[in-house]
Amino acid sequence: MKDSFQALVLDKKDDGLHSTVTDVKLKLDALPKEEDGNVLIEVHYSALNYKDALGLTEPGKIVNQYPFIPGCEFVGKVVESDHLDFKTGDEVIATGFGIGERHFGGFSQVAQVPGNWLVKLPKGMNMRDAIAIGTPGLTAMLSIDALEHAGVRPGEEVLVTGATGGVGSFSVILLRKLGYHVIASTGKTDSPYLHELGADTVIPRHELEGPIRPLARQRFDAAIDSIGGTTLANILSQIRYEGAVAACGLVGGSDLPTTVYPFILRGVKLIGIDSVMQPIERRLKAWERLGELLDSNVLDHMIHEIPLHDVPRQAEAMMRGELSGRTVVRLHN
Ligand SMILES: NC(=O)c1ccc[n+]([C@@H]2O[C@H](COP(=O)([O-])OP(=O)(O)OC[C@H]3O[C@@H](n4cnc5c(N)ncnc54)[C@H](OP(=O)(O)O)[C@@H]3O)[C@@H](O)[C@H]2O)c1
Repeated sequence: MKDSFQALVLDKKDDGLHSTVTDVKLKLDALPKEEDGNVLIEVHYSALNYKDALGLTEPGKIVNQYPFIPGCEFVGKVVESDHLDFKTGDEVIATGFGIGERHFGGFSQVAQVPGNWLVKLPKGMNMRDAIAIGTPGLTAMLSIDALEHAGVRPGEEVLVTGATGGVGSFSVILLRKLGYHVIASTGKTDSPYLHELGADTVIPRHELEGPIRPLARQRFDAAIDSIGGTTLANILSQIRYEGAVAACGLVGGSDLPTTVYPFILRGVKLIGIDSVMQPIERRLKAWERLGELLDSNVLDHMIHEIPLHDVPRQAEAMMRGELSGRTVVRLHN
């Protein structure tokens, strides 16, 4: 391994935030360690998420310590390991656990995290596919796992909101692959993309944004919702008897203006999904399933690959809502 590596370093000065790709001297002791069992990783790919874009553009949001290396998720090869489960050469993915928020992240050719935060790539999955899936794919898989645990079964009608977004797109693809009838809700007028992903029916977002009735016509067996707010309240009132909703996001707001009626008169279940601190056993199971269900052809369509030095510019574009699909950051040429 070389004695220096490149990283995007975010710093806060009097005139605001500055992010610069810099040569960092390889001093392993300088990379923060959380606990025993640390693993040193040569990072091959990271991804630009909304959270990263927010941290790179707005002081004090997401990142609170400077100078800092952001990047909430990464994929790479183990270089050194103090953890029994990992050895040199293993290919691993790291998401959640405060990586890129409180712990130096993946916009760096080298990263160090506790082995307990890592998942080995499932058999047959390459590193580029793994980062394409990343947090949104994992969140979609955890949502489906939760719905299945609540008794939802293939063939049933599952609503996906924010369907053209990261979590939404993966939810549509995975549900379809598993044999569910997928109803995709979107704010976009042009819907061929969602049919290509596997949606059986596409409905306009505004259908779920109207005034909330405590109990409305029963339309869906289950739902994966990344919007929250009025949308989630409307969904709850339209879920069939003993159906379930996996709530994972708040794009439309963090309030929930609902009543207890869907729960006490229709036995509806509302299940919260968190991918960030999800225990490793459930992560492993979810990644195994993702490996079985997704293939490179589908993922290739979703990827927009950029070099490390382009991250600040693309972060600005993401904040202006100009990006779509997965923005994958290449750490080596
Ligand atoms: N719980 C977890 O562990 C976890 C993990 C990852 C993400 N999340 C959360 O899940 C949410 C979605 O994440 P993502 O990565 O999928 O985001 P994303 O790629 O930005 O997608 C969000 C989608 O929501 C729809 N949308 C945008 N603005 C909206 C609005 N004002 N009202 C209603 N719908 C709107 C759009 O889809 P359409 O145009 O198709 O409607 C958009 O593509 C976020 O709140 C994120 O923080 C949670």
